[in-house]
Formats: sequence, structure tokens, C-alpha cells
Amino acid sequence: MNRSMPAKILQVSDCHLARDPRADYRGQNADANLALLTDAVRRRAPDLLMLTGDLSEDGSAESYERIRDWAEQFDCPTAWIPGNHDERGVMAPIFDAAGFRSGPVIDAGGWQLVLLDSAWPNDPGGELDDQRLAPLDGLDADRPTGIFVHHQPVPVGAAWIDKVGMRKADGLWARVRRIENARFIAFGHVHQRFRRAHEGIACLACPSTAANSLPATPRFTPGETTPMARWFVLDQSKFHTGYLAA
Ligand SMILES: [Fe+2]
Ligand SMILES: [Fe+2]
Repeated sequence: MNRSMPAKILQVSDCHLARDPRADYRGQNADANLALLTDAVRRRAPDLLMLTGDLSEDGSAESYERIRDWAEQFDCPTAWIPGNHDERGVMAPIFDAAGFRSGPVIDAGGWQLVLLDSAWPNDPGGELDDQRLAPLDGLDADRPTGIFVHHQPVPVGAAWIDKVGMRKADGLWARVRRIENARFIAFGHVHQRFRRAHEGIACLACPSTAANSLPATPRFTPGETTPMARWFVLDQSKFHTGYLAA
């Protein structure tokens, strides 16, 4: 990627593919919904595909192989972080062999993108300890910074998913405060649209490719467009972002 050119990033999250491609996910078929997004992604022609966790519902090798095959058709670099439904030990060798990147810091359009792993085994909520936060130390102070992580670092106003958000998010915010050029924190996990500034940093949800809830409802409430993804254009020190629907 040329540092002087704007970079088009496409964030794809919460695909929830299962070993059995016919499996039901919240009344939807996760494989079919992911496939519905293919043409829109191709038209967008991303420079980098950013997969932000819950790519699998059951941590099966088969599900990661299908995600890999889907991502490879766009012929661009792909990066990933795990979510609470993922099995890092299963996904890492499959994605490593495909040349997918797991950061922790990736250069794109003159920006530095930091990938943080907030997922722990058998834990629907997320947490970042000092070791997981370490990639935020020693960043280049002159370059704009975006952070990708699976769990939401602020409540999104939906009780069903906020009860399993990021615990002890203060540790993340304390570090983000020290980063001169931090611009956004992008996450998945919440299966809904969300955008809000917190301490001057844009907090941006990427909806699911599999099934989404109406925003800010106490229970998961179908009715929102599915599938969706989030696009970014990183241009000098500015960024633009929005939702991509099929
Ligand atoms: Fe999810
Ligand atoms: Fe999740």
C-alpha cells in the first residue's frame, strides 16, 4: 500500500459460520448472508480486509476455511482478530497459511492500525490486560491511529450485549489518552449499528454479516438490514466511514 494514497479498509465482523453450512443462526443462514455481501465488497475494492472476530460460531476448522476462501476472492491483504466465539488455536494456523495478518500493528494509507485481542476462552465478555494492551505503547506519534478490537469499549445502550462488553475498559482508555493521534476504535460483537464519540475518539461498531439487531434495544430484536459491514477511507489525517449493505 502506498502511504501517500488514501486506503480503503473494509471491516467485516461476526460472520458466525458453523461447521455445517446449513446451520441456523438467529433464524438466518450465516453462509448465505455472507455470500450476499460479496458483490458489494467487490465493488468497494478494498485495499485491506479487516476481520474482527466471531468469524466462526463454533470454532470449527471448516468454518475458518470457508471464511478464508471468501476473503481470498477479493485479492487484497487480509487481517484478523478473534472474537469470543472463535478458537484462536484453530483459526491461526489456517489464516497464517493463507498469509492473513494478525498485526499487532498494520500500516495503511499512512495510518497505523492496531489490532487488539480482547477474547478469552469460554468467556462471552472481553478484557484487555497489560500484555494485550502492549501494542499501544511505542506507536509513532506523528501518524494517525485506528484501533480494531472485538468487544465494545463503551456501552452501546443495548442491555443484551452490554452485559458482555469489555470489562475494565479504563485500561484501554488510559492508554488511548496518551496516543497523540488516536482517531477511532472500531469493534464488532454488538450486531448493530453504533457510532458515538467518547473522549474525542470515534467509537464505531461494525454490524454482523450474519444477523443484526435493531440498535439500542434491551433484547436482540431482528428487523435491521442483514448483512452489513463497515467501510473506511483513511486519507492523510482524516477518515471517512459508513455502513456497507448488500
Ligand atoms: Fe457475534
Ligand atoms: Fe462476540
